[in-house]
Order: sequence, then structure tokens, then C-alpha cells
Amino acid sequence: MITVLGLGFVGLTTALGFSKKGFKVYGIDLDKQRVDSISNYNIPFYEPHLDEALREELGNNFVVDAPLEEAVNNSKAVIICVGTPSNEDGSANLSYIFSAVESVFKASEGEFKVIVTKSTVPPSTISKKVKPFVEEMNRAYNKPIGLASNPEFLREGHAWNDFMNPDRVVIGVEDEDSKEILNQVYIPFNAPVHYVSYNSAEFIKYLSNTLLSTLISFSNEMAMIADHIGDIDVPTAFKILHQDKRWYGTPAAMASYVYPGCGYGGYCLPKDTAALNSIAKDHGFEPKVLEGNLKINEEIKDFVAEKIAAVVPKENTIAILGLAFKSGSDDVRLTPSKFIIEKLLAKGYTNIVAYDPMANEIFDKMYNFPIKYVGSLEDIVEQADDLVLLTAWPEFKENKDLLQSKRLFDFRYTLADLPASVVGDTSA
Ligand SMILES: NC(=O)c1ccc[n+]([C@@H]2O[C@H](COP(=O)([O-])OP(=O)(O)OC[C@H]3O[C@@H](n4cnc5c(N)ncnc54)[C@H](O)[C@@H]3O)[C@@H](O)[C@H]2O)c1
Repeated sequence: MITVLGLGFVGLTTALGFSKKGFKVYGIDLDKQRVDSISNYNIPFYEPHLDEALREELGNNFVVDAPLEEAVNNSKAVIICVGTPSNEDGSANLSYIFSAVESVFKASEGEFKVIVTKSTVPPSTISKKVKPFVEEMNRAYNKPIGLASNPEFLREGHAWNDFMNPDRVVIGVEDEDSKEILNQVYIPFNAPVHYVSYNSAEFIKYLSNTLLSTLISFSNEMAMIADHIGDIDVPTAFKILHQDKRWYGTPAAMASYVYPGCGYGGYCLPKDTAALNSIAKDHGFEPKVLEGNLKINEEIKDFVAEKIAAVVPKENTIAILGLAFKSGSDDVRLTPSKFIIEKLLAKGYTNIVAYDPMANEIFDKMYNFPIKYVGSLEDIVEQADDLVLLTAWPEFKENKDLLQSKRLFDFRYTLADLPASVVGDTSA
């Protein structure tokens, strides 16, 4: 059995969803009016399909007016779906979570169960705040209760379908007993279940929401730039943007642009981003997204150089793997490798060797850096103490074991277990 604490959009959907999948579910909410409404088959907010599910499940698998003690002690998983509103300074208000956690400890009689936070909380909240609180409760009440983070990705207006057919389930968990309970709970969903650290689970949720908000702000900034320049048909421009074939396919090629690396380079993206930023200013508009975008493209290269400098001794031989700005090209104009090598030289690294399957000669000719060029991957790995991967050439992914024979900085995240179309830097 499962208890759900908090019967708002997420909690009521979760409770009815698990009950529809065959679990006995207790739904608990502090708001008496809300509980009365649900007990009378009325959904207290608008969300398609929930009324139908409530009619089917209430009195069958779904119980809504039971005491907390009965619910908690009959459950293996207690799922917290309370609100996490913003504090005045923008941080998340966790008071509802803490009080829900404490209520579970008080109500529990002792058998192992797991508290699952489905509420959205920023990365490090569980590890730095909720976990210590649960440990404190464990000591105070001496009851074996585990902890897991299980962020929810449903969209209001599509809550039922999103919950019943999740495209992914993310679970942050540390102990095996809690993991096993969650494993059972998600079997009927037939979805990929990812077990990760607490911080990763929370981060994945924010990765999703902040991508969406950034895309919206990007689009709104573009509409404002267009308005300042004038004579631009904004909806038509976006409609045509959406015809780009990179939006389609599985995975869509656009995914390769939503993947970290060491900055974009080449002939087009740097100059075109800078030029639009500049002309917007000429027309009296100060872009923030574009300005931030350009700044981050600088800062990522400092980040890369600092990461190396933090651990690599100055006398080591550093191998730069990849000089072209992207794989499949020998274009080295404004390539991240140029800036990163420059920064490493400035930091006092004198033994730098480089290998690119296509761009050794052209890079040497264009930049004339005091570094050595090597003709094959095997040779450069042999010569180097540290490998710094800066272009996602398939050859590097194909020689994972060889690369991992030395300390490797994979700044394109190329060796991750993801489709080549995503980790290949087709974009940047
Ligand atoms: N709304 C969404 O689309 C959505 C999607 C994904 C995640 N989330 C996250 O899920 C969480 C819940 O969101 P929501 O929109 O369902 O919130 P909501 O405000 O609609 O519902 C929260 C409910 O929790 C109840 N509650 C508070 N403390 C309680 C306690 N100690 N015991 C029992 N009930 C308690 C409140 O009375 C309220 O009914 C938030 O962290 C939110 O960020 C929301």
C-alpha cells in the first residue's frame, strides 16, 4: 500500500494513478475542505480525466478519509506531494516538507517504509537538508524509515496521461530497501526507471523546467528584438524556425544542441550571435539572453582550463584530443581548442601535444602555437600523462578503453552512454 500526503494537482493525480494501477492508496491532506470535496467525488480543481478516475477508484483502491496513523502503518511508501512555494529571496520554502516528514515519523509504528519526496526541491535539498532531518527523526523516534527523491514531470492539463504513461521515472535513492520498494511501485508503468543520486534526481527535474523557461525567455527576447528592429513578422519567423528538420526524429537532432561541451565555435554561431546582440543594441534594446549566451561561451573555456589546472602538474604532458570546432569538419576558426590551448599555455603548461583526425596541419598553420602535433590516437595516448578531449570525434568514442588508460578530461561528455547523434558535437 501507498500513502500520498498532499492532494493537489500532483498528489491527487499520483494517488489516483497508483490506485488505477492496482495499489491500495491512502490520500491525506491537511485541508479539510479539500478532503471533503474529494470524498464527495468532486475534484477541487480542473484537471481532465481525474473525475472519471476518482469515480472508479474511491471506495475501491483509493481511501481518502482514513487517519494518518492507519495510512502510514499500512504503507510501504509514503509519497510527499506538498507544496514548495518560493520564499521572498527566491529559495524554496521547505516547511511543508519538514512538517510532512515529521508527521510520518510520529504516526509510524515501526515497520520499514520509505518516505518519497515528489515535491520539487532544488538540487542538494535532500542531501543537505531533508536527509539530515530524516536522520534526526530516525534518532528521535527510533523508527526505520528510508528516503527517496522521485521528481514528477507531469504537466497541468495533461496530468493524468503524463502520470499514467511517463516517458521516464527518476529515483534518487541511497539504500537498497527503499530502492526495492520503489522498484515494485513502478513495475506496472512499463517506463524506463533511472536510479541516481539524490542531487542528480533533483537536478534532472530542474534541468527540464529551466530549459523550458529559458526557451520561453529566449523566444520572448527574440520577439522584443524583432519589434525594435521593425518590419519582422514574428509568428511567421517562428513558424519557419519550427520547420527546421533538427526538431524531428528520435532523438531529434536538436537534442545535440541541448548537451554540454566546451563551447560553440566555427564560422557561424559565434559571429552571428554577437552580430544580433550588437544590432539589437543599435536599435535600443539590451538583450539579456544573448548577452548571457555570449558570456557563457567565454566562461566555459575558463571552466575547462581551471578544471585541468586544479589537478594537473605543470610538468605533465597534456594531450589535446580534437582541434576542429566540431567533429566531421576540419574548420578550426574560433574553435574552443584554440582558446583552451591558449589558456593552458598562459597557465604555464609547456608540454602540450595535439591530435585531430583532420585538422592538425590547418590548426598549426592558423595559430602557430608552441605545441607538438601527433599523427595517431595510439601515439598521442602513449606520450601523454593527461588527455583533454575537446572535439567529439567518433574515433574517440570508439576507443574508450584506450582513452581511459590515462587520466581523461572528457569535456564533450563523449564517452557517456548516449546515442552518437546526441553526444557527437554536430552542433557546436
Ligand atoms: N503542478 C504541477 O504541474 C507540478 C508538476 C510537477 C511537480 N510539481 C511539484 O509538486 C509539488 C506539489 O504541487 P501541487 O501543484 O500539487 O501543489 P498544491 O499546492 O496544489 O497541493 C499541495 C497540497 O498539499 C497539502 N499539504 C500541505 N502540507 C501537508 C501535510 N503536511 N500533509 C498533508 N497534506 C499537506 C496542501 O493542503 C495542498 O492541498 C510542488 O513541489 C510542485 O512544485 C507540480
